[in-house]
Amino acid sequence: MRPSQPDILIAGAGIIGASLAWQLARKGCRVLVCDAGKPGGEASWAGAGMLAPASEYEKPGEWLDFALHSLALYREFVRRLEEDSGVGIEFSQCGSLEIASGEKEFSLLRDRAIRQRQSGIETQIFPPAELPGRVPRLAPSAGGAVFYPNDGQVDPRTVSEALRAALSRRGVELRKQTRVANLYPHASGVDVRLGNGETVSTTMAVICAGAWSSQIAVAGYSLVEAFPVKGHLVGYRLPPGTLPHVIRCGRTYIVQRTTGYTIAGSSEERAGFDRNVDAGIVSEIHEAAVRLAPGLLPARPDDAWTGFRPATALPHPLIEQLGESPVWLAYGHYRNGILLAPATAERLTKVLTASLGMD
Ligand code: GLY
Repeated sequence: MRPSQPDILIAGAGIIGASLAWQLARKGCRVLVCDAGKPGGEASWAGAGMLAPASEYEKPGEWLDFALHSLALYREFVRRLEEDSGVGIEFSQCGSLEIASGEKEFSLLRDRAIRQRQSGIETQIFPPAELPGRVPRLAPSAGGAVFYPNDGQVDPRTVSEALRAALSRRGVELRKQTRVANLYPHASGVDVRLGNGETVSTTMAVICAGAWSSQIAVAGYSLVEAFPVKGHLVGYRLPPGTLPHVIRCGRTYIVQRTTGYTIAGSSEERAGFDRNVDAGIVSEIHEAAVRLAPGLLPARPDDAWTGFRPATALPHPLIEQLGESPVWLAYGHYRNGILLAPATAERLTKVLTASLGMD
């Protein structure tokens, strides 16, 4: 079904844009989603899908609360999306273990965990002697850990596939290879100029184009600059059940799917939109992962790939209206787009349906 005039045009069909489109469609909105490339083909394809808010947002406050809320929404988000799409989603609330590299690091992690408990975050503290019982293949040098039992992992590629199927079932038009070039807000809506020269009129528009978001020109406004922070990831085909939790130590993390496929990450590079896989960085990530879990990983990874985290100069995502205009922003989720998708979609669905008088 092609909406003649959509209520809402969404620029970008990554996990943020597609989750929002799905939630809006469930509320009866007519939604058109345009993606400059392959829907779900960028950061939402590349991400490891680690769901670990307390390790990503160190400081208490609005964004830690938002991330914890999104984590709490995940199980139901996955259940509903599976039901709506008929597509199975790889998700497990397996817990994450943040491992200290030594005694000093352990005491910092332990103090942080005690503070986090006061903010209502469930944590368990494991001194070094207790670690082998939790994760048998860890480095013997691991200096203790903090366990977050509510954390988990999701395969974002399965989420994207399910979102595409759910959008199709709900009659949402999803146009791939269709760049949104310009938005012209006016008193009663937005005229949208597509890269192919076509113009679409809509009541509201939302920019969810990840690292490309600020390339969309909005007449009368300048957008907070979005830019890519490249990350390398490596993958291993392992037997299932060989790593019971997400594990991380400093910049290194290892995430195992229920199928056994295991991902280790990652680098943070300001390299523009360079997609090349650098063999040196792949080796560094592999070696760091082997130091963390030496008995788990084979001699070399089976796969390696890169992705572009959608960053801005802000320490949190932009989920807000652009001035008084009918244009909304949902970008800059940086390391946590997969985690924050359910709460971002929930927040914007509430305000957008209220603006349309549909709540
Ligand atoms: N979410 C982990 C990363 O961006 O590497």
